[in-house]
Amino acid sequence: MSVSDLLFRKYNVPGPRYTSYPTVPYWTDSPTESQWVESISEALTEGRRQGAGAALYIHIPFCESLCTYCGCNTRITRNHGVARPYVESVLKEWALYRARMGSDFELSEVHLGGGTPTFLSADDLKFLIEGILEPVKISVNSEFSLEADPRVTSRDQLDVLSQLGFKRLSLGIQDFDPKVQEIVHRVQSKEQVADITQIARSLGYTSVNYDLIYGLPFQTQKSIRDTVEVVRGLLPDRIAFYGYAHVPWIKPSQRRFTEADLPSGDEKRALYELGRTLLEEVGYAEIGMDHFALAKDALWQAYQQGSLHRNFMGYTSRFVTPLIALGVSAIGDSGRAFAQNEKLVEAYQSRVEKGEIPIQRGHLLTSEDQILRRHILNLMTRMETNWRDSELQAPHLALALEKLVELQNDGLVELTSSSCRVTPQGRPFMRNVCMAFDARLAEKAPNSRLFSQTI
Ligand SMILES: C[S@@+](CC[C@H](N)C(=O)[O-])C[C@H]1O[C@@H](n2cnc3c(N)ncnc32)[C@H](O)[C@@H]1O
Ligand code: SF4
Repeated sequence: MSVSDLLFRKYNVPGPRYTSYPTVPYWTDSPTESQWVESISEALTEGRRQGAGAALYIHIPFCESLCTYCGCNTRITRNHGVARPYVESVLKEWALYRARMGSDFELSEVHLGGGTPTFLSADDLKFLIEGILEPVKISVNSEFSLEADPRVTSRDQLDVLSQLGFKRLSLGIQDFDPKVQEIVHRVQSKEQVADITQIARSLGYTSVNYDLIYGLPFQTQKSIRDTVEVVRGLLPDRIAFYGYAHVPWIKPSQRRFTEADLPSGDEKRALYELGRTLLEEVGYAEIGMDHFALAKDALWQAYQQGSLHRNFMGYTSRFVTPLIALGVSAIGDSGRAFAQNEKLVEAYQSRVEKGEIPIQRGHLLTSEDQILRRHILNLMTRMETNWRDSELQAPHLALALEKLVELQNDGLVELTSSSCRVTPQGRPFMRNVCMAFDARLAEKAPNSRLFSQTI
């Protein structure tokens, strides 16, 4: 077995993807509604001082059918009658926030995620976004983006959103191989994807992203090669090339295929390496973890300039706080606290009706959490992090350094007295490097299965 195979075996353990630190299962100290609103208001004031606006995430949970690999928070239904009442709840939640903190602030980002935002009709999308934007100011250089499923997205929907300022579109693709598409219950043609990409560009969308997944059942080197070949022909500006997160104990639909159908750890990594090589051949550059962009794209420029940020929506080109999140299961971030909304549509709507901000759980970050979060974010966005001498005495850093020595011996990081840098051969092990800084995981190993494998 080669050295790299040995390393993959050694480090392929369950671990978080670090869209937040502390990771959601380790949240302990939930903010009250007033603590949450206060921390958002403070972040708005701070942002205003620096001339920055807030980011807004809106979660639309509905999808017409279930893709069996899916790890997102969804509600599967073909009944489109649920859409308008849901949109009304989201607008009420928005009004609750504004009643508590005032409307005197700017929005610099709006992201519609899901589920499938284009489950909503063009009229419902218009009603939602006009209701969101009408009472507040919009920053000059604002960025509005949405996720869409090519199977249920029309020109009308994209047109309405484009007129309201949306210029970034992210399409769920995953894989073009018919056998893979069938087993994951997501059949969509190349023509559908090509059409919607072309429509978006003709309507003025300046950045189109494709989500692809490696590690799905029945994927082979050939199927990845064929999928990437189609992608290279359509040339999206960005690509998220996600490792399949297999968590059937949380998402039972993932039991609709067997583990024997999945590529093994080594095979899975080889699929990523192949995809990466094929993408780099035509000018894509790897950014952070599992993401690629063409050199003209803002994400690549942000990576070059050190302003790349990572949050619950993935990578973004700048650090914006607070992130206010509306809709069922949506997670907000004020910098000092996280809060997640109720995860069931009915519970979410009923709390909003009662006039409550529908927080189900959250976490007030301690000062140690904030320091460790900075290191993990630095690693995820810049491949390196630095610390001051004064930090060296803190138990969390001493513990991280102890663990990092082993990663250094395996050639995955380079350490100096004040920094840690991920080496090129360490990039596939990014989650393992971040785990060295995860004091909460070190303190209490999970007593049940929580995380997917790191590789
Ligand atoms: C909300 S969906 C995108 C929009 C739309 N629902 C669609 O599927 O076209 C977000 C993305 O998460 C990714 N995803 C979902 N489940 C995943 C899993 N178990 N492992 C890795 N990526 C996953 C997929 O790439 C998917 O496109
Ligand atoms: S991948 Fe997208 S369309 Fe499929 S179930 Fe998940 S959120 Fe819905």
